[in-house]
Amino acid sequence: KLIPTILCGGAGSRLWPVSRELHPKPFIRLADGQSLLQKAWLRGAILPDVAEMLTVTNRELLFKTEDEYRAVSVISGNRTNHFILEPFGRNTAPAIAAAALHVAESYGEDACMLVLAADHLIADQPAFAHAVKQATQLALQGKLVTFGIKPDAPETGYGYIEADIDSHLTKTGGYPVLRFVEKPTLEKAEEYLASGRYLWNSGMFCFQAGSMLREMEQHCPSILEATRACIAQSRIAEGKGFSQLDLDAATFELVPDDSIDYAVMEKSSNVAVVPCCIGWSDIGSWTALGDLAAPDAQGNRIEGEVILHDVSNCYIQSKQRIVGAVGVKDLVIIDTPDAVLIADRSRAQDVKYLYSRLKADG
Ligand code: GDD
Ligand code: MG
Repeated sequence: KLIPTILCGGAGSRLWPVSRELHPKPFIRLADGQSLLQKAWLRGAILPDVAEMLTVTNRELLFKTEDEYRAVSVISGNRTNHFILEPFGRNTAPAIAAAALHVAESYGEDACMLVLAADHLIADQPAFAHAVKQATQLALQGKLVTFGIKPDAPETGYGYIEADIDSHLTKTGGYPVLRFVEKPTLEKAEEYLASGRYLWNSGMFCFQAGSMLREMEQHCPSILEATRACIAQSRIAEGKGFSQLDLDAATFELVPDDSIDYAVMEKSSNVAVVPCCIGWSDIGSWTALGDLAAPDAQGNRIEGEVILHDVSNCYIQSKQRIVGAVGVKDLVIIDTPDAVLIADRSRAQDVKYLYSRLKADG
């Protein structure tokens, strides 16, 4: 039995102004009409042996999320959806702790979970399904399995995985992990890239619920205990073919905020990696999103109506109004009804600073 577990939270601050608190990155719709969240759900739902689809998300996003799933559920033969609802975000470690506790309770500690981010693209589904199959075998040996992507730039927004390539774990591929480094400095990232020994962490994980709970007991017991205490105070709503665990705010507040990468993956000596070539992209910034569109002869990538003169290497998105530009290059220009973003292409990662300033100013 496999329980794909979608983590949907985080505002996607680098994609402001389109990504907002109540319209976060997973809800961004791509040119084919599907949102990143729908793609994530389908990616899990069409795998074999799926017991249920589990989603951990903010309470305020429940109805929106259900609408998204309903719209694509026919494609996969309807799956049962279960939800764990957070009153606010506490990052991925508490979200995964709550999910693992739920799965262990419902299906036993041996049940396999497949944690999926809600805001990635994976172009090659058959290759992904194959990687999941390999990962499941390793998970059944008690490993916390990561999916490794071959890096092509010294990205500082990712986790880096050093695989022990001399030691095969199974006949079908997969290696023990020597080191997991979350979001290194640029110097370190350059060093890792040059060494050729590191893979990027894709942000997806496969493990038995019990393995994760044991690792958490060892490496972040305060998160696990606080989450357990919160669940004990939380309300479960049962309906026909669904259940919803609504996490109690007063006790969830006491759960330390941390990501699974720092809280567990960097510390555990029980991590494995399945290297995979699945057409993965983390739509982490406007340049990453822009790269999905085909460039014109001047290297501009355009969505919407624009009028340009002597403009090159820009990404411009405008859904409502006409954007005009003259004599500029290397810019990101995003127009929305109530906010406009203008940024240097090379600084796309820093859009998050605008977002946090806006948030601080209310
Ligand atoms: N439910 C819930 N609650 N989900 C959350 C929360 C939360 O508090 N915080 C983040 N998420 C979801 C996000 O929506 C996303 O789908 C996923 O968890 C990962 O969170 P990010 O905030 O996007 O993490 P990241 O991109 O900084 O880093 C992770 O992903 C990289 C690859 O994209 C790490 O795992 C890195 O090691 C990895 O390289
Ligand atoms: Mg991310």
